[in-house]
Amino acid sequence: MAEILSANENCEPKFEANQLIEFVLGKNRLELGPDFQVSEGDSEKLLSLCEKRKNGYPLQYILGTWQFFDLELSVGEGVLIPRRDTEDVCLAAFDYIKQFDSPNVLDLCSGSGAIALAVKRYCPDATVMALEKFDDAYRYLVKNIEKTGLSVLPVKGDVFNYDWIVEEETFDVIISNPPYINPDQQGKLQAEVGFEPASALFAPEKGLRFYKFISKYYRPALKDGGYLVFEYGYDQAKQVRDILFDNEYRIIKEIVDTAGNPRGIIAQKV
Ligand SMILES: C[S@@+](CC[C@H](N)C(=O)[O-])C[C@H]1O[C@@H](n2cnc3c(N)ncnc32)[C@H](O)[C@@H]1O
Repeated sequence: MAEILSANENCEPKFEANQLIEFVLGKNRLELGPDFQVSEGDSEKLLSLCEKRKNGYPLQYILGTWQFFDLELSVGEGVLIPRRDTEDVCLAAFDYIKQFDSPNVLDLCSGSGAIALAVKRYCPDATVMALEKFDDAYRYLVKNIEKTGLSVLPVKGDVFNYDWIVEEETFDVIISNPPYINPDQQGKLQAEVGFEPASALFAPEKGLRFYKFISKYYRPALKDGGYLVFEYGYDQAKQVRDILFDNEYRIIKEIVDTAGNPRGIIAQKV
């Protein structure tokens, strides 16, 4: 198995082989012991999954679940796979969310609900609303709310059709990991990303459209002193900072991921 998987340079062959074994056989390597036998049917299944994975199909979609902090979220075609970088952004945001008593938090572009659910998990007195536009992703959002039992309000809607939500000074914190990849990168990304929905990845205006729109049009929905938190692409720090300056936010913190790249920002409405 590891040999097939190693043909894909984005694969971690040993780890992924173990994950697939556990997925197909229902037991991990420790439980199976060193001399475990595999039926012909299971062996065929494992080989076909290895081939799929070799061709770039994401491990997370095969397994159907993925860990975000300590939350086991359902994932599959049609929803973005939650990333480690997003955990880094959430970790930084938690400190600011916790500054408020019973904060009102809005997660825009919620996808699987990773951010909204993590906020509720680690800031339990927060009231959290999660907005997602696309049917497939929204289904995962609702499923993950049910699965985790965390009380998050899912809302099906379009960020750009915001009138209903932008009541003045509703939220203490607005957080978003929107689509941010420049459409000129389409076709140049690693094979795995090609299986994720384009609607979760690409945004017009060199990937900046959501930052411009949210900074400007959701500003009234933030309370004075409230925070706007964005995740962005590794090369977008300056552009996003400029957008926030133009909209008269005060930059509070730039968030650096574990690899040392700037990946997010916390700005305050002043
Ligand atoms: C980069 S993904 C982030 C998903 C999730 N927040 C996370 O961090 O894993 C962006 C999400 O925005 C959603 N989306 C795209 N356009 C949208 C729009 N106009 N209004 C609301 N959601 C949108 C996509 O379906 C996708 O789920």
